[in-house]
Amino acid sequence: MKRIYLDYAATTPMHPEVLKVMQPYFTDVFGNPSSIHSYGQEAKAAIEAARTDVAELIGAREEEIVFTGSGTEADNFAIKGVVYANRSSGNHIITSAIEHHAVLETCMFLEKDGFEVTYLPVDEFGLVSPDDVRKAITSKTILISLMQANNEIGTIEPVSEIGSIARETEVYFHTDAVQTVGHIPINVNNLKADLLAASAHKLYGPKGVGALYIRKGTRITPFIHGGEQEKKRRASTENVPGIVGFGKAAELARLEINEEAERLTALRNRLIDGLMTNIEDTRLHGHPMMRLPNNVNISVAYTEGESMVLNLDLKGICASTGSACSSSSLEPSHVLLAAGLPHELAHGSLRFSLGKWTTEDDIERVLEVLPGIVAKLRAMSPLYKKQG
Ligand SMILES: Cc1ncc(COP(=O)(O)O)c(C=O)c1O
Repeated sequence: MKRIYLDYAATTPMHPEVLKVMQPYFTDVFGNPSSIHSYGQEAKAAIEAARTDVAELIGAREEEIVFTGSGTEADNFAIKGVVYANRSSGNHIITSAIEHHAVLETCMFLEKDGFEVTYLPVDEFGLVSPDDVRKAITSKTILISLMQANNEIGTIEPVSEIGSIARETEVYFHTDAVQTVGHIPINVNNLKADLLAASAHKLYGPKGVGALYIRKGTRITPFIHGGEQEKKRRASTENVPGIVGFGKAAELARLEINEEAERLTALRNRLIDGLMTNIEDTRLHGHPMMRLPNNVNISVAYTEGESMVLNLDLKGICASTGSACSSSSLEPSHVLLAAGLPHELAHGSLRFSLGKWTTEDDIERVLEVLPGIVAKLRAMSPLYKKQG
């Protein structure tokens, strides 16, 4: 059976060209970038070339990019690094209720260490209001951390407006851009971000490598202590093949970002329209327009997200119930609850995330298969029978 992968927001397959450029760095060019001999210097040069590619993708300068071990680490570094370095100026952090756990759990950890956190609400589309951000700022606020786009419902937040407010009020601004880097055009100067987190495995690069953009002049304390790598900002011997792969993935993304976003938006819209017309009582989550080109998140009344995912898998279609991190737990999605959905619907959501190898045929196949699955599940639902 041909399998159809529609879970690109969880992770992407590596681009074959990325794998190709990484390979020599496992074998021939294996030097430690801190070594002064030629093996080491070759590895170092490769890291610097990758840094240029990542910087270029987001409109940053090379020296403002620090490679990390993941997007999660980049978020942790940004938040802990800034709040600990600026503790003498205040102890208040502003974030939102729909952040990824990499941000939420970090903020909760910091609450136990004397920091105060405001978790801003979102509207029914998952949008944070810039006005709410402004109102939440106090003389103690040192950091605003708001994601550029949500990984579950795909809503793209008004981050440049929020960045302007942060700049005006002299508060640091971090944005988790793990779902947007390589998918929509980004420029850190337009966003007015001081810190921006990215992860290679979301843009056809390898797992286990991320990056944090740190605007020049940002007061930040290192988060991993040890050697002097990454200009003393992130200790530990660099993951050379991973970083090289991230660089290539960034270069490829930059070359085709507009075209690919346009192609995926058309496929996404076809999928949304088809689902809404072919399956009654279907609700789209997230903003109808301000959403990632590759994200579709729906709930289907009287069916469970998990049951739909498992039944789709039996037909060779791989989707998800929301975020990869929460899909193995039975907790309703914190994002959907924050957007005001009742528990039953927050349990029932189904996310399709499209990518480079998604075709029109794949979308048509979902539209052919899902109505039958829903009918079967509804036939087993006592609630649906009662309603019918
Ligand atoms: C919005 C967001 N932030 C952070 C992360 C964590 O990235 P990583 O898997 O590289 O740790 C993810 C991954 O799902 C994400 O979607």
